[in-house]
Amino acid sequence: MARERKLQFPEGFLWGTASSAHQCEGGNVNNQWYRWEQQGRTLTGERSAVAANWWQQAERDFELAEQMENNALRLSLEWSRIEPEEGRWDESALERYRVLLSDLRRRHMTPLVTLHHFTDPLWFADRDGFAREENIRYFVRFVRFVVEHLRDLCSFWLTINEPNVYAFLGYLTGEFPPGEQRALRALHVLRNLMAAHVQAFYAIRELQPEGQIGYCLNYRLLEAACSYSPLDRVVAGLQETFFNWLALKLAEGERLPLPLRFALSAVPRAAGARDYHGINYYTRDLVAFDPRRPGELFGRRFPRPGAPMQDPGRGGYFGEVYPEGLYRVLHSVYRSTRGNKPLYVTEHGLNDVEDRLRPRAILEHLAMLHRAIREGLPVRGYFHWTLVDNFEWNEGWGAHFGLVELNPRTQERRPRPSASMFGEICRANAITESIVERYAPEAAATIFGPVTAAGSGARVLI
Ligand code: FCB
Repeated sequence: MARERKLQFPEGFLWGTASSAHQCEGGNVNNQWYRWEQQGRTLTGERSAVAANWWQQAERDFELAEQMENNALRLSLEWSRIEPEEGRWDESALERYRVLLSDLRRRHMTPLVTLHHFTDPLWFADRDGFAREENIRYFVRFVRFVVEHLRDLCSFWLTINEPNVYAFLGYLTGEFPPGEQRALRALHVLRNLMAAHVQAFYAIRELQPEGQIGYCLNYRLLEAACSYSPLDRVVAGLQETFFNWLALKLAEGERLPLPLRFALSAVPRAAGARDYHGINYYTRDLVAFDPRRPGELFGRRFPRPGAPMQDPGRGGYFGEVYPEGLYRVLHSVYRSTRGNKPLYVTEHGLNDVEDRLRPRAILEHLAMLHRAIREGLPVRGYFHWTLVDNFEWNEGWGAHFGLVELNPRTQERRPRPSASMFGEICRANAITESIVERYAPEAAATIFGPVTAAGSGARVLI
């Protein structure tokens, strides 16, 4: 009998889900996103309210993650709870995080703790937040405080989530608070966030020399709509540079392209200031030259016609499901950083209320990740966005990224088929033929390759 084909992941590979405080905790009334919601500025007019009620009951969902045999979980600390007013520390909030981290450890899940995931305390936002370089010290002081108090429970830190999304959506397109549309300011915010990461890195390094410290960027593949159109290629390249690569260059301490060198000062001590690269990957866009869009660097973005699509959102489309993109992004980041540090997929997921594409998408993205590992890339973990449906920023409750479905009104949970599939993968530390057969048989050929006349053959790939 032919042995079962499988893609085996390396020993110690981290399997988990990713989440953020504001999206899950509920009752966050002291940050700039709360104010944005109160002002009715989310696309749906909805509010996060009790969210997934993690402030009271995150343990109930940790239990689900434990049942899925996840060995890691990414969550964030809400700065506005811990430091509700400048310089005033709330011990009870800190204690709640101690309880949550202890609970994860008890369940044998390594916590990956994000120190900034889009939200700022109101007092910080009202001083212009990261738009002012002198404000970075407030963030670094917060980081010192929490690491001093939590270092016995966590040693895996992610300083800042997606500085590129925070800077460009908040200050260029105006979709996120503070809702500004000022290109130069957006660039300064990006630069200051990378500087904040670097300073936080050294602060943590000093307090906890063994800590693993990184940040993550959102990498969106942006490709020329027509590969032989020079204009499409130029605008796609420009958008890629600004959205994906500028932050990485700043963080790596590399020289910026010429005009930018005059606008942005380099980040001091950047080179070497991370222990891993965090990669958030969701989708790709095609980009066509469009002279009517100066604000988007003359590029119009749209999904590839006919591509399998995530459910749309209020603000437009969430994008194509494109597994090979993950492979390409892993390689690009590895190349751009000259393979200097391990890689983690700190987010990947899809908006899919019916779970119609998710099982296959997870399998195919993981197969791509596995291919990268086979080719020698040091990918050490995968965090699926997200465990339980949660409050999706401007999209409010209209997006469904969870392995587990949540009814935010009744707080009822219902695991989607993807949840049990993800559990099986984590348990086996592998994608097996039987998992593929049961959850997405149509993907068998792309995952294992075509079955040959000699039978399925034994194919155990490390
Ligand atoms: C990422 C964010 C995360 C969530 C997912 C869908 O860009 O980091 O909070 O919104 O997208």
